[in-house]
Amino acid sequence: MPHADSALVPDSIASKTEFWEHVHSQIQALLEPEQRNWVTNLSNAASLVYNSLLAFPSHFGEGERAVNWCGFYLDAPLFPQRRISPESTTQSKPTTSRLLLGPFNGRPACQYINTTPGKARGVCADAFLQRRTVLVEDVEKYPGHIACDGATRSEIVCPLVLDDGNIVGVLDLDCLAVGAFNAEDKAGLEKIAELLVKSCDW
Ligand code: SME
Repeated sequence: MPHADSALVPDSIASKTEFWEHVHSQIQALLEPEQRNWVTNLSNAASLVYNSLLAFPSHFGEGERAVNWCGFYLDAPLFPQRRISPESTTQSKPTTSRLLLGPFNGRPACQYINTTPGKARGVCADAFLQRRTVLVEDVEKYPGHIACDGATRSEIVCPLVLDDGNIVGVLDLDCLAVGAFNAEDKAGLEKIAELLVKSCDW
């Protein structure tokens, strides 16, 4: 099967729970045991979730109710750093913690999110710092919500937590409809997050 076809959704899928089980199995099929690079695996996962949602309009609805963004924000130290010359090793450590934009599908989004306790703001920072899925029924009523796209109306952000308890980032989904996400989406995404953290080297 061509890789692109893994984002097709069979007509037999009738509920959100079935949909997420299907997407989970499609991600599992795409992952290869010897390929544990997080850029590679999260890139395909973002594309698969986003395009599967678009291929299953009964999940949210079409057009003005569709998913409009799916992607990852990752803890900044995971990204390749600029080489520090031996002379500058006395440089002090950065005092700001942040998530950087990772693999995603959708329109351009903010490049980083401040997660420094006391200065952090937004749904992604809250999910990251509290290590819990945050489900936002109406983004306009969420204090501190960061509007990367003014058309977004609801959002769900799921943390990526390793077995040892360390957190590496979050998975973020946005929708053009208010109240698009529910407990079935939360359960489905948390299972996908679990699969992805286990399938990559961090
Ligand atoms: N709305 C998010 C920012 C990321 S975008 O939705 C892609 C937030 O409040 O953290």
